[in-house]
Amino acid sequence: MNKIAAVFSFLLCFSLALYAGDQINIIPYPQKMDIKPGHFKINSGTTVFADSGFEKLASGFQTRFKLVSGFQLSKNDEICTQQIRFEKANNLSEEGYSLSADSKNIVLKASTQAGMFYALQTLYQLMPVDIYGKELSERKKWTVPCVEIEDVPRFAYRGLHLDVSRHFFTVDEIKRYLDAMAIHKLNRFHWHLTDDQGWRIEIKKYPNLTKTGSHRIETLVGHYYENFPQRYDDDAYGGYYTQDEAREIVRYAAERNITVIPEIEMPGHASATIASYPFLSCTRQQINVAKKWGIFEDVYCTRDSVFNFLEDVLTEIMDIFPSEYIHIGGDECPKVRWHECPDCQKRIKLLGLKDEHELQSYFIQRIENFVNTKGRKIIGWDEILEGGLADNATVMSWRGVAGGIEAAKSSHNVIMTPGEFCYFDHYQDNPETEPTAIGGYTPLSKVYSFEPVPASFSAEEARYIIGAQANVWTEYLKQFSDVEYMVFPRIAALSEVLWTQSEYKNYDRFCQNMLTEFQRYKVLDINASKAFYGVSAQTVSVSADKVQFILRTDDSKAVIHYNLDDSQVSLKSSVYKSPVTIHKNTVIHARSFEGKKEVGKELIQKLAVSKISGKKPVSSVPIFKNDAVLQQLTDGIYGGTKSGNNWIQIGGNSDRELVYDLGSVMQVHVVSVSILNKPAICGIYPFGIIVLLSEDGVDFVETAREKSEKVYDSIIRIYRPEIFFPYKKARYVKIVFLNGGNVFDLNGNTRDSVLFLDEIEIN
Ligand code: ACM
Ligand code: ZN
Repeated sequence: MNKIAAVFSFLLCFSLALYAGDQINIIPYPQKMDIKPGHFKINSGTTVFADSGFEKLASGFQTRFKLVSGFQLSKNDEICTQQIRFEKANNLSEEGYSLSADSKNIVLKASTQAGMFYALQTLYQLMPVDIYGKELSERKKWTVPCVEIEDVPRFAYRGLHLDVSRHFFTVDEIKRYLDAMAIHKLNRFHWHLTDDQGWRIEIKKYPNLTKTGSHRIETLVGHYYENFPQRYDDDAYGGYYTQDEAREIVRYAAERNITVIPEIEMPGHASATIASYPFLSCTRQQINVAKKWGIFEDVYCTRDSVFNFLEDVLTEIMDIFPSEYIHIGGDECPKVRWHECPDCQKRIKLLGLKDEHELQSYFIQRIENFVNTKGRKIIGWDEILEGGLADNATVMSWRGVAGGIEAAKSSHNVIMTPGEFCYFDHYQDNPETEPTAIGGYTPLSKVYSFEPVPASFSAEEARYIIGAQANVWTEYLKQFSDVEYMVFPRIAALSEVLWTQSEYKNYDRFCQNMLTEFQRYKVLDINASKAFYGVSAQTVSVSADKVQFILRTDDSKAVIHYNLDDSQVSLKSSVYKSPVTIHKNTVIHARSFEGKKEVGKELIQKLAVSKISGKKPVSSVPIFKNDAVLQQLTDGIYGGTKSGNNWIQIGGNSDRELVYDLGSVMQVHVVSVSILNKPAICGIYPFGIIVLLSEDGVDFVETAREKSEKVYDSIIRIYRPEIFFPYKKARYVKIVFLNGGNVFDLNGNTRDSVLFLDEIEIN
């Protein structure tokens, strides 16, 4: 390269960097985007042009712009310069659009309302975040960077769900939810309207559904497995939507290109319905609207009168909701009542069915036939595959992706919503410092990594994966701000999974764009989780006397500072640059800083290092079929009280033992273990712990014994007994946990106690 070319290419790179510095932060990321130099400046002389059909979207833009800027942009029916145009372009596909901004004009093109709506969402994201405000902003300059965008979604079904049964949210809150969905270019709102804990939609023919079924007398306190015995809050709880309110939601959603898909659960999760009309169950006995979470045995009977009821309900539902799809649930339906019910057994015999699973299949197919006669289709959770799938049903795969794969292979449409990636009731940050969630761990990066189409699928099979959805179950989300906390920012990650072709996805770029997305959330007053700004620690190699870990944050602007001496972090603490190795038990404190400002929570994480770090026991009683889990006992990471992660559970009524091989004979003097006491899941402290040592792995000598003095303990806590003894030579260490005996479970039944074990250290 000659000198002039070198200078030129330097200038070119520099100017490209400058445009990139314009920070175009569109989420979900468009399929094709060319950033150009320069800006379009919106001023009082800017006019708005709209082709026929797009006037309403254009005037919505004018109204929003006036609100935040004070400028009333005038409408102009002639094409001219210094104009923002909403143009019809019939060559663009259903939800696709193009957006072209240069210094003279901004041109949005689409063939449909949906496409133009998305073009407008992109225009808003190209503008300063104040565009999302509720009032006049201080901003004087309104510019849009010059750019060429051509965009179209990858998936047709881009869903977000909300459970309004466990907790109820107002019409205004639902509208806020829909607003946020629209910004993320999501187009299906799955409204989970009925469940055991409350029926939430007015049905004119059956007034008891709301009179009785929309209220519960009280609600479980804390996590399901938190208190032993369980406790209740003594506060009546209820709420429902009138049909007029539901219609208003449908209308409001439609304006945002969102279809509302109502879910009426059947045949299980029906306690609230049966409480309203006991004739619906097999026993016909009065029950209460459920006041705790879970799965309940009283489900709809399969008598004709029950189908008549459900058809009446669905008729009113289909009258309110124009959606092509009606969700009929189908998940988690226990079969015990059907097994004992003469009417259900008669039905099984009459139809020549094999068992209650086929009866469930009959139930769903009968409902499907009815829904189909009204020109609609059903969606059901993946349990509807059991006992035979209804002909035209779409399957929502939630227990992993296996159900979705099976359904797609038999030519049924599938919506992927596997718990691991799509359940936004899971934790997104360290469970020990987060508000109580149901469990699991689904951080932002995990959501972003989701690929809805199984890798093994042919192009033909892939066509059946119509999209994916995040589910928001609200057992532990009382307030709408709690819902927002769980949904944002994870929904931004899912929106990119659903919209952007996988080859254009890039987590680092997404995180960079999220910095602006958080500013939008701030203007919109959305209570988003700030886990993004925090620090997480991950071990990358674990071996005897040596653990290496990395620290990371999603905030690309941040520098991580950390200490290894269990003290609070400050700007004076070490700057994290590369993996850190430790040789003894260490409490890491870490925090990210943007400049001098602390951002995110401080991470406090204890890591264990001992002579058996990274080792699996050489033998165990009982024998583990999947002994890979035993690795967790020496992975350096301590289990917490709130999530099941890290603990291994050992049941049965024998004593339990583990034998570790240190690799060679050496001096040892202490064994320590972590034991979870959590009575609601029958986890208690063992009767005692014995340590035995051996040089040859054959003859073991009892060396120390911890005789448990602990009386029965009903509180959740972690015990970390350290069993010391004088220095002894050993190569093999056997640890025996004396069985804790029988305990009561949450239902008052006697069970074997369970040993929940984690980090074992030998030194
Ligand atoms: C479900 O989470 N029970 C569909
Ligand atoms: Zn029955």
